[in-house]
Amino acid sequence: MLKGRNLIEPTNFTIEELDEIFRLANDILRDEKKYIDVCHGKLMASLFYEPSTRTKFSFDAAMYRLGGNVLGFSDPTTSSASKGESLADTTIVTSNYVDLIVCRHPREGTAQLMSEYSSVPVINAGDGGHQHPTQTLTDLLTIQYFKHDFNNLKIGVCGDLVFGRTIHSLVRAMSRYENIEFEFISPKELSMPDYIKEEIEGKVRYHETNSLDEVIGDLDVLYMSRVQRERFVNEEEYVRLKDYFILNKEKMEMAKDDMIVMHPLPRVNEIATDVDSDKRAVYFRQAHLGMYVRMALIMKLLGVELND
Ligand code: NCD
Repeated sequence: MLKGRNLIEPTNFTIEELDEIFRLANDILRDEKKYIDVCHGKLMASLFYEPSTRTKFSFDAAMYRLGGNVLGFSDPTTSSASKGESLADTTIVTSNYVDLIVCRHPREGTAQLMSEYSSVPVINAGDGGHQHPTQTLTDLLTIQYFKHDFNNLKIGVCGDLVFGRTIHSLVRAMSRYENIEFEFISPKELSMPDYIKEEIEGKVRYHETNSLDEVIGDLDVLYMSRVQRERFVNEEEYVRLKDYFILNKEKMEMAKDDMIVMHPLPRVNEIATDVDSDKRAVYFRQAHLGMYVRMALIMKLLGVELND
């Protein structure tokens, strides 16, 4: 059903299509060996115009673990972009060589543009401060894994809500489920952009606060994020805001026993390392699940089935 499609933002897929991906991801998680060769002969381009550890590694690992191959770059100065080639031309040429393109770019809208020139499916691995749909698939699989339901949740998203693309994608995706309530936790300067709030208006309830302490006790999920230094025009402003929230052991004492703490990573200072050993801290497990959901996504977009 998903063969040949692009993933530019999470709502490109219906809830049923997402469920299909999660079912497959869970099956791969249960018995990875079955899938070892399903992408044999397939090639994925991994074009990273912006730094990445988890997203790039988990995509590349996903493709290799399915028996496929990967080409690409993580440093655009090694590609023809540095000679002034347009993104459209790079896309046309690359899509002639591969079966799938994964792209991260600092500019909003790049993945959409690429999908208009590509002859193969394009996956947005993060476009500027806009969207990061495969992180959202990771986040949803994590929520399902630990909370067993996408409905009836109170979710706190905390940190940089202006530039945090993983948060923008998550909020959009969660607004399609039932009885979701959000706490947008940020300093005023980093509050949720109006265009996101307008989109979710009437679909979910949300409140805005600058106090984590006031709301942490009510949350089912706390999604922390780093302040996105590279997207600030003014370094002093970044320095002033970067440590606004620090989740530590003491704050965790105010949270429910079954609250989970998520983070797309990389973490800077916003979660103290003394939280890592708390059973409610699931961010490293989340990064691990991200590889399985990407394996499932690759299979679905390539239309690859398990032959048994
Ligand atoms: C995030 C990203 O790149 O948007 N990380 C990720 O993909 N796991 C978050 C971030 O950079 O802070």
